[in-house]
Amino acid sequence: ERPRVWVSQPLFDDIVARLGEHFEVETTAEVTQHAPDAVNAILRRMDGALVTLNDPIGAVQIEGAPRLRAIANVGVGYNNLDVAALSAAGILASNTPDVLTETTADFGFALMMAAARRIGEAERWLREGHWQRWSFDSLLGADVHGATLGILGMGRIGQAIARRATGFGMRTLYHNRSRLPEAVEADCKASYVGFDELLARADHLLLVLPYSPQAHHLIDAAALARMQPHATLTNIARGGIVDEDALCDALERGRLGAAGLDVYEGEPRLNPRLLAQRRVVLTPHIASGSLATRRAMVALAVDNLIAALGYGPRAGDPPSPLNAAEAAAARAG
Ligand code: GLV
Ligand code: GLV
Repeated sequence: ERPRVWVSQPLFDDIVARLGEHFEVETTAEVTQHAPDAVNAILRRMDGALVTLNDPIGAVQIEGAPRLRAIANVGVGYNNLDVAALSAAGILASNTPDVLTETTADFGFALMMAAARRIGEAERWLREGHWQRWSFDSLLGADVHGATLGILGMGRIGQAIARRATGFGMRTLYHNRSRLPEAVEADCKASYVGFDELLARADHLLLVLPYSPQAHHLIDAAALARMQPHATLTNIARGGIVDEDALCDALERGRLGAAGLDVYEGEPRLNPRLLAQRRVVLTPHIASGSLATRRAMVALAVDNLIAALGYGPRAGDPPSPLNAAEAAAARAG
């Protein structure tokens, strides 16, 4: 009998079809917010699954699923996975780093520029018919070139953004849990500073750090109060990192220049106060969303799942595992 795998959301059929070379595949026809017990009922029958950031997978979902050996997340962020619970159950988890780095950096830069130059607001204003005559001082924004860029979270995506900033003559400061090797700092032309200094000096602050409980509301009222009143804040990481009400307060009181948000605390539900802010550009979690990159992410997740279940050219050695040693130890023990 062939192993069984579940694909939790509609992805690219032609890529997902590769799973059919090795497995019985159960797919999902429409984008679905699966209830935890429904996921559990499915996973009890499965050897592996391909899931997205819409699909929380933890102790509840994997309970009583003895065949389950692999969860492949289509996304670099994996805060939807309880990796400790998966490790304890001997389930190998994987994500999709690297393939989305440059595309996501492009988008982060674009969103920062849109916020700084008020592109969303200007387009809404034009479409709403307000453009009666050109005026010298309407919709004046902030410069990006020559400004100080602050990057919070200097992983691969943060570094790719820093490399773009050199072409704009920006000064790049970053803060990260650990300082980067000097050669990487030199390649990115980025200087390490403390968290408070980053907040105080950035003209444009980009959030690119992974979500963790410690990062929850890292950008709160106190952090926003340290920023310059003309500064922009752009978040392409995870919504929970920013206290959205504190952000709205800061914008309404003129304590922050503008914001660009691709991620939200309760997405796809939006804080109504955010929708009411003129100086905010809002996009629906699409930073990695070029066609080529979304396809590459699915292809990598498929490779991970096939290899994690012991098939294909990389059998037993998936390209981007999150817990290979821990899962193997739990299986052996
Ligand atoms: C998207 O947010 C991802 O983590 O890939
Ligand atoms: C996340 O780890 C990244 O690639 O920046």
